[in-house]
Parts: sequence; structure tokens; C-alpha cells
Amino acid sequence: MGNTLAFSKECLITGLLAGIIIGYAFGFVMKQREVEELKQQVLRLSAQIEQLRQAVPPLKVLAEKQGIYIGAAVGADQLRIREYAETLSREFNILTTENALKFERVHPERNVYSFAEADAIVSFAEANGMKIRGHTLVWHNQLPEWITHGNYSREEWISILYEHITTVVSRYKGRVYAWDVVNEAVDDDGSLRKTIWLRNIGPEYIEMVFRWAHEADPQALLFYNDYGAEGLGVKSDAVYNLVKSLLEKGVPIHGVGLQMHVSTEHYPTPQEISANIKRLSDLGLDIHITEMDVRLKLPAESADLVRQAEIYRDVLMVCLSSEKCTAFVMWGFTDRYSWIPEFFSGYGSALIFDESYNPKPAYYYILKSLIRP
Ligand code: G3I
Repeated sequence: MGNTLAFSKECLITGLLAGIIIGYAFGFVMKQREVEELKQQVLRLSAQIEQLRQAVPPLKVLAEKQGIYIGAAVGADQLRIREYAETLSREFNILTTENALKFERVHPERNVYSFAEADAIVSFAEANGMKIRGHTLVWHNQLPEWITHGNYSREEWISILYEHITTVVSRYKGRVYAWDVVNEAVDDDGSLRKTIWLRNIGPEYIEMVFRWAHEADPQALLFYNDYGAEGLGVKSDAVYNLVKSLLEKGVPIHGVGLQMHVSTEHYPTPQEISANIKRLSDLGLDIHITEMDVRLKLPAESADLVRQAEIYRDVLMVCLSSEKCTAFVMWGFTDRYSWIPEFFSGYGSALIFDESYNPKPAYYYILKSLIRP
């Protein structure tokens, strides 16, 4: 009797244990199935998103239909990064050399030129059917020491600049679509900036360099490029008067670059930009938006990203509404590589792709603006 009782107790315990184990095993299998199903769902959704993305043409295709170039400033090192290069060549049809053609990079010693970085960018552009904006021949920043610490006569300064411009422009003759010949020569108060070039040569350096660049490559479009002169005000009046007087003197200048480094806190209104573009284009000049970015105070909230998108859209719409505004170029395209965090502490997220190359709202607002009859 006692044995029978012990036996049935054991049976019960074993049965219970087996039940629990089977229950767990069943639950585990079901969980695995659910996980597997979820995985499949995610995969299906990703494929659908990718299909949708592929169904929407890249920015450059839409921009071409609108008769403008769309692009970004690029660095030679980044071109070696697969995602960077793929996004760049997929979306854009014009690029600007961000630093590679600046005086200190390309002409570090008096008798030494260093074209490797610029060559890499130009070859990339050509291999991908992109136009090139050469940036920049004459500027007061990013100069090598042999210039900043140089002690030369006026004639020597002139021949240094002549030789620099002739060498650099000739090397890329027929390959650079537009040059920023002179960059930021006007100060915020509207006077000519007291640069090393103004001090050592005089105000005529500006017309000299345009003439030399034109001699070296008669096909290239030659631009005056500046910041803070996008809307209306003392500085943009000064830029307008400068380029008007150059044209009156028969200087070969073909366009004005509006840099457009703005923030969601400070930006010129579309009406002002439009009025400025109108008066410049009435002179017969082309307009390029050359360095647009819209910096945000970090951390960026979703409302900031939408505001940023609206500003990108507004500037692009103004450009599209002028026949003479023929390029819309941003100062980079991914937040992974942007000058903003280094120069504006606490700010960033200024471009249209995030750090992982995902399009931000600004990308879609630009895309939508380019889809119009
Ligand atoms: O190349 C050196 C590198 O060797 C060194 O290790 C590193 C350490 O900081 O510095 C590197 O140089 C930096 C260079 O960018 C390349 O990244 C310089 O410090 C830095 O000052 C330089 O900044 C550039 C800035 O012009 C200089 O004023 C930015 O990248 C460039 O985007 C910016 O571009 C200008 C346009 O040419 C004209 N309009 C305004 C625009 C924004 O400032």
C-alpha cells in the first residue's frame, strides 16, 4: 500500500515536471516563431521602403528637369568611404572642392604645388558625370606661411598671385565648370576687407585676378562668392556695387555666389533673397547658392528639423523662380562631415542627411520642391 502510494506520487511529480518542460518547450518554439515572423516582417518592410526610395528619383534627376544643378562641397578623404561616395554620386550633379583647392593645400611652398587631393575630387566628379565648382582662388584664409609671413614688393605680390592663378586654373582647363575666383573680399560694413591682397596690391587685385583666370580658362564661369550678402543690407549692397563696377570695366565676371550659411534663428527672408537675386541677375550675372547649411542648436528636436527643412525649401524655391539661379550647392551633405560643430559650439545637424546617411526632413522638402510642373 505504502509502495503504491509512493509510486503514484512519483508518477504525479514526473508527469507534472514533464508537463512543465513540454509547456516551456512549446512556449519557446512559439516565441521563436513569433521572433522569426517579426524578423520576416521587418525584412519585408525594409524591402518595401527601399522599393519606395528607388521609385523616387534622386535629387539630381529632378533638379536637371528644373534646369539647375544640385550639389555639395566634398573632401578628398571622404570619397574613399563607400556610403559617402555612393550617396554623393547618386543624389548630386555638381560638387565643390571644400578645402582641396585652397591656397595652403594646393600651393604650400613657393615652388611646390600639391594637386593630389584636387585631382582625386575632379576625377571623381568626371567619372560620375558631375560638374565641378573650383573653390577658391583668392581668399584671406587658409593661406600658407610663405604668404602670411611673406615680405615682398608689390610687383612680387602681383607675380605670385598671377603665377598661382595661372597654374591652378590651367591645370583644370576645360574641366572646372565654375570658379569662386574671389572669396569674401567685402567686409561686414561694406568696405573692402583689409586682406593681405588688398594691403599689398590695392583694390585692383580683384579685377586683375578675374582677368588672369579668364585668360587661363576662357570657358570657365567666374564667380565672386561671399557670405552675409544673401538678403538686403549694407553688405549685399556693397557686393552688388562691386560686381556692377567690375562689369562696367569689362572685367570677365559671370556670377555671384551666395554662400547661405544660416541658422533657424538667423536667416534672410525669401523676399529679400529674391530681391537680391533679381538685381544681380538684371546685371546679366548667374547666381549660385554656393555653401548652404542650416545649423541647429543641439540636441535638435523634431520641430527644429522641420523648421530647418522649411528654410532649405524656401531658399531652393527662390532659386527655382529665377532663370539665372542655376546651382544649389550645400556645404556638405551628411552631418557626419560638417564644419559647423568645430566652428559653432553647441550647434550641428546642419545638413540634409544625418550622420548615418539617412535623409532628414530637409531632404524630403527639397525633393518635393523639385517636383513641380
Ligand atoms: O587639415 C588639417 C589637419 O591636418 C589637422 O589635423 C586638423 C586639426 O584641426 O585641421 C585640419 O585643417 C582644418 C581644415 O578645415 C580641414 O578640415 C582646419 O583646422 C580648419 O580650420 C578648416 O576649416 C575650414 C574652414 O573653411 C576654414 O576657414 C572648413 O573645413 C571649411 O569648410 C570652411 O569653408 C569655408 C569656405 O571655404 C568659405 N566660406 C565659409 C566656409 C565655412 O567656414
